Amino acid sequence: MSEKATLTYDGKTTELPVIIGSEKEHAVDIAKLRDQTGLITYDDGFRNTGSCTSDITFIDGEEGILRYRGYPIEELAEKSTFVEVAWLLIYGNLPTRTELRSFSDMFTEYQVLHEDMKYHFEGFPPNAHPMAILSSMINACGCFTRELTGPYDPSKFKRHTARLISQVRTIAAFAYRKSLGLPIVYPKPEYKYTANFLHMMFSMPYGDVDLEPEAVAALDQIFLLHADHEQNCSTSTVRMVASSRANIFASAAAGVCALWGPLHGGANQAVLDMLGQIRNSGDDGSKFLESVKSKEGGKRLMGFGHAVYKNYDPRAKIIKASCDKLLARLKQNDPLLDIALKLEETALKDPYFLERKLYPNVDFYSGIIMRALGIPTEMFTVMFAIGRMPGWIANFKEVMDDPKSRIYRPRQIYTGPTMRTYVPLDQR
Ligand code: CMC
Repeated sequence: MSEKATLTYDGKTTELPVIIGSEKEHAVDIAKLRDQTGLITYDDGFRNTGSCTSDITFIDGEEGILRYRGYPIEELAEKSTFVEVAWLLIYGNLPTRTELRSFSDMFTEYQVLHEDMKYHFEGFPPNAHPMAILSSMINACGCFTRELTGPYDPSKFKRHTARLISQVRTIAAFAYRKSLGLPIVYPKPEYKYTANFLHMMFSMPYGDVDLEPEAVAALDQIFLLHADHEQNCSTSTVRMVASSRANIFASAAAGVCALWGPLHGGANQAVLDMLGQIRNSGDDGSKFLESVKSKEGGKRLMGFGHAVYKNYDPRAKIIKASCDKLLARLKQNDPLLDIALKLEETALKDPYFLERKLYPNVDFYSGIIMRALGIPTEMFTVMFAIGRMPGWIANFKEVMDDPKSRIYRPRQIYTGPTMRTYVPLDQR
């Protein structure tokens, strides 16, 4: 097969190189197109643009395949842990026992925030959204590591990374406690990553919460399933910010802001809000689906559809199974789960959803699990952010380690007014 594509425009033919990925994806390399032809490409929302090459995550949206560094998500969800997967994503291979030990030890070393950070928490109003607190506090945390303000130093990367992954959960738990006016609970060195997070969320200074192993495992799996998803909105944001050589805390804080929106990470909160509204209206979901199909007020079935998956999101399958298991184990019966199941069953038989290839995504059932764990709806997107941190960091590292990496700078097709002359205020 030819490894060149030919473009003919205005009577002139130009050859463009074709690059081929390890999973046989083909892409026309247009980096020199403007120099050679004066043309730029137009791809609204970048849906057909490979913005980088990457070794981290592979997705086949048509087949519903997701692999981290070559490992199928199903196998990792069954056999691995969030911390192990974080190492895998960032450093490219499964860690040895020694690597995993030292990685975990660094999380313990860095889990406590600088004491002065508490003044920053105090500045937020009581009803501040935890995603706003999270992004601000990640940036604030960066200020307590002076060396971050200098140029990127690969020899310090491992420490900065461990600090960020460790402290994001401390910040998240503190934000939650602050929103309820509860005293802050400090992390415990003897707890593993996810157990420690649940401890900081739910223990009291006078008594530790009882941590059910199944509950800890379910949340750990949620973090793992969210750990990376190639060039989505927040990861592209992180790479964009990193490309200007901003530090890892600043880049991650930008990722949190991008994740917040309801079409991206904010969808998990939106799903629970939607299910709650359906229940409160006395509907079993059928009326709601009719209003979605007639696009009444731009309504969408939240937790359905995906920019890349045109098939069942493989993460949704795992989460659905885990949700059934956890609720049975905790002996909980959630009426919102019944509504979700009914919505899924009806939507998957309905031509509106079938024709548009709209299937449940990762957010459709994750909220039911988090609700069962006692995590409030407003914190759901924060859970996504904790999980996504290793993926953002792995992408940050790829940008920084690439000797050819340049500042990201897309172009645009200007469609505004052509040149006009300034009109003084009294003549307008
Ligand atoms: N409910 C109803 N209709 C939908 C939905 C939905 N959830 N998603 C897409 N459509 C329709 C849309 O109205 C359009 O219809 P038409 O062809 O008649 O104009 C068609 O399907 C294509 O929609 P689109 O907006 O071009 O699709 P997209 O690929 O740009 O959107 C999406 C992807 C995820 C933003 C969208 O499916 C959506 O809004 N879903 C609900 C929000 C959600 O669950 N987001 C979480 C995504 S997974 C987590 C993450 O990675 O962030």
